[in-house]
Amino acid sequence: MCNPKEEFMKNKMNRRSFLKRSAVAAAAATLPLSLVEFSWGSGDSRNFTFAYISDSHLTHVKGAQFVRNFDKGLKKAVTECNFMSPKPDFVVYGGDLAQLGKREELDHGLEIMSRLRHPVKWVIGEHDYYLDLGKYWQEKMGSLHYSFDHKGVHFVVLNSILTYDAWIGKWKSPEERMSNMARLDNPNGSPFMVGQKQREWLKRDLAKVSKKSPIVVMSHSPLYKIFKPWNFWTDDAEKVQALLKPFQKVTVLHGHVHQILYNQIGNITFEAMMSTSWPWPYPVSYIKKANQVPRLTVMMNRADPFHERDATGWSVLNLDDGRVTNHYKLWENKDRVLKYDKRLGYPIDVEYQAPAKRIPPQEHY
Ligand SMILES: [Fe+2]
Ligand SMILES: [Fe+2]
Repeated sequence: MCNPKEEFMKNKMNRRSFLKRSAVAAAAATLPLSLVEFSWGSGDSRNFTFAYISDSHLTHVKGAQFVRNFDKGLKKAVTECNFMSPKPDFVVYGGDLAQLGKREELDHGLEIMSRLRHPVKWVIGEHDYYLDLGKYWQEKMGSLHYSFDHKGVHFVVLNSILTYDAWIGKWKSPEERMSNMARLDNPNGSPFMVGQKQREWLKRDLAKVSKKSPIVVMSHSPLYKIFKPWNFWTDDAEKVQALLKPFQKVTVLHGHVHQILYNQIGNITFEAMMSTSWPWPYPVSYIKKANQVPRLTVMMNRADPFHERDATGWSVLNLDDGRVTNHYKLWENKDRVLKYDKRLGYPIDVEYQAPAKRIPPQEHY
C-alpha cells in the first residue's frame, strides 16, 4: 500500500515512462534496422544498464532533524531508480552522502538508500571521509577501494580524496579538519590524491586484465586537473592515467563537481555526474577570465535559484560494447545524452552539441 505521495510519484513516473516508451517505439518504427538493433540492444553480453546517484550532502541539524531539501533530492533519485525499466544491474553511489561525515548523516543516508531495490556500489567522497578518516564508512559500506567484473567490463572503485599526511595531522580536532576540507574555495584545504599505496594496488589489479577489456573507473574527484582553488583536482592524476593508458577502452566516472562536465585525454573518457543536492557554477563564472572548463564540455544552464531542484539530478548509464552512453536525468528539464563517438574518439552531447540546438542560458535580474 503506497502513501499518497508515493502514489503520486508512481503515477507521475508511469506516465513519464509510458510517454518515453511510446516516443521510443514511434522513433524505432521510422529508424533503419541497424539503429533499431543498437537502441534495443544487440544481445551482446556487454550491453547493460546501471544508475548513478551522487553528492546528496545530507546535513544533520539536531536530533532527528536534517536539511529537508537535500533529503528530498536523494529520496527523489531513489524513487525514480526503483521505477526504472528495464531494471539497472546495480546503482553506484558516487560519494558525499554526508555533509560533515557524521554518523547521523551516514546512517540517515543508508536508511534512504536502503529503499533501493537494486544492489549498491559505494564510492567515498571527502565529506564522508575527513571526520574519522573513513572508519565508519568502511564499517558500514565496506572497502574504500575495490574492483569487480560485470558482463565483460572491469570496474575499479578508487578512493581519490586522500591527501598529504602533514595536512591531516595539522588540525586541533577531527571536526576542524572536516570543516576545512568541506568548504569549496578554502585556501586552507589540500589537494586530493589517490596516493602511492593505492596506485600500486591499481597496478596489480590491472595486471590481471586484458588490454582489450573495457575498463570503467569510478572515483569521487575527477582523475584530471580542472581548477585547483576549488579542488576540482587530483594531484597524482597523471600517474593514475599512465596506469590506464595501455587499455583500449577506458571511462572514468566521477562526482564532486556537481555539474555536467566531460573530457577526453588520450584513451580516457571522463564524465562527471550531477548532484542531487545543489549545482556548482562552472569555474569560468567565478574567475571571469581563462576558461577552466574542458574544451569538449557543453556547459549546462546556470541554475535557477528560485527552483530548488534545478540543475540537479542523477544518471542512467548504458554500457554498449564497452562504451558508456550517459543519460543525465535533469529534473523538470530535458535529459541530456552524452554518447561516445567512435569515429571522433571522444564523447559528444547528442542533444545539445549543435549550437543552434542549445537552450540559451537563463538570465537573472
Ligand atoms: Fe559534493
Ligand atoms: Fe566532494
